[in-house]
Amino acid sequence: MGKIRTGRLIALLIMCAGISTAGVSLHGLLERAHALGGPDDLDVPYVPTPESVVEKMLDMAAVTGSDLVYDLGCGDGRIVIAAAKERGAHGVGIDLDPERIRESKENAREARVADRVTFVRQDLYNTDLRDATVVTLYLLPSVNLEIRPKLFKELKPGTRVVSHDFDMGEWTADRTAEVDGSMVYFWVMPANVSGTWEWTMPGSAGGERCVLRLDQEFQNARGTLTAGSSEASVRDVRISGDQVSFTVDEAAGGKAAGTRYEGRVNGNTIEGVIHNPDGSSSAGRDWSARRDPSTAVSIDSSDELPL
Ligand SMILES: C[S@@+](CC[C@H](N)C(=O)[O-])C[C@H]1O[C@@H](n2cnc3c(N)ncnc32)[C@H](O)[C@@H]1O
Repeated sequence: MGKIRTGRLIALLIMCAGISTAGVSLHGLLERAHALGGPDDLDVPYVPTPESVVEKMLDMAAVTGSDLVYDLGCGDGRIVIAAAKERGAHGVGIDLDPERIRESKENAREARVADRVTFVRQDLYNTDLRDATVVTLYLLPSVNLEIRPKLFKELKPGTRVVSHDFDMGEWTADRTAEVDGSMVYFWVMPANVSGTWEWTMPGSAGGERCVLRLDQEFQNARGTLTAGSSEASVRDVRISGDQVSFTVDEAAGGKAAGTRYEGRVNGNTIEGVIHNPDGSSSAGRDWSARRDPSTAVSIDSSDELPL
C-alpha cells in the first residue's frame, strides 16, 4: 500500500477512534501504518498538533518577525504557517511525505505567506539546522532522543526548541506547560562552556593568572577556579543561550568570597563583568577568558562522537 493512501488511513483512524495525541497513540498509529504496508521510511505517523497547542508552542518560544522557525516533520505546515502569519517569522517545514509537502504549500498559499515559508521533502535526520533560531517538534520520544545530539551539534546557543508532548530524556526542559491535555516542553540551547578557560585577573598585583575548569552536561555545569596557588569550587553555574554566570565562594584572584562572574560566550572566548559580593560591579573588573579548544567536549551525554 502506498504512503499517501496509508496517510489517509491514519487520519481516518484518528477521527474514527477519537485517538488522543499522547505518545502511546502515536506509537500505536505508527505500528498500524506499518501493519497496513505503510511508509517504511517515516519515523513518525502524521498527527497534527491542535491549534491551541501550536499557539502555546509559538508563545513559549516567543517567536517574532526576526525568527527562522524550522518544523521537523511539518505535517500540513500549520506551525510554520502560523509563525509566519501571526508573528511575521520566516519558516522552513521539513517532511518526508510528499503529500504533506504538497498540502503545506497549498496551505501557505491560502494563508498568503508563501513568500515567507519554504517546505522541503527531506529526511529530518539529514536536514541542516544551523540557520534555525527556533525548532519545533512533534515526533516521538525515541526520535527526540535520536536527534538530540544533532541539535547540540548544529544549533547556535540561544536557539529555542519546543516539543509537543515529548521530552528530551535527561536534557530537562527549561520550562513546561500543559494546554488542553497536551504537554509542551521548551529549551534554550546552552553554549558549550566545557573545558579549561584562562585569563589574567584585572587589578590583581602583577595580574594573577586564573584557570577555570568546567564540566558540563546539557545546561548544567560545575567546576573549579584556580587563582595562583589557591583553588575554589564554583557554584550556581547558570548557562542560558550564550550567557554564563557562576559564583566563587572563597577568595580567589584578589576577589572576595561570594563574587559572581557573568559573561557572554562566543566560541572559545568569554567576555564579561565581575560582581562584588554586595552585588555592585566596578569599572575595570571585567574578565576576558580564552579556552583551549582541545579541552571542550560534547555536552550531550549520549553523544559518543568528538566535537
Ligand atoms: C506527528 S506529525 C507532526 C506534524 C506537525 N509538525 C504538527 O505538529 O502538526 C509528524 C510528521 O513527521 C513526518 N515524518 C516522519 N518521519 C520523518 C522523517 N524521518 N523526516 C521528515 N519527516 C518525517 C510525518 O510525515 C508527519 O507529517
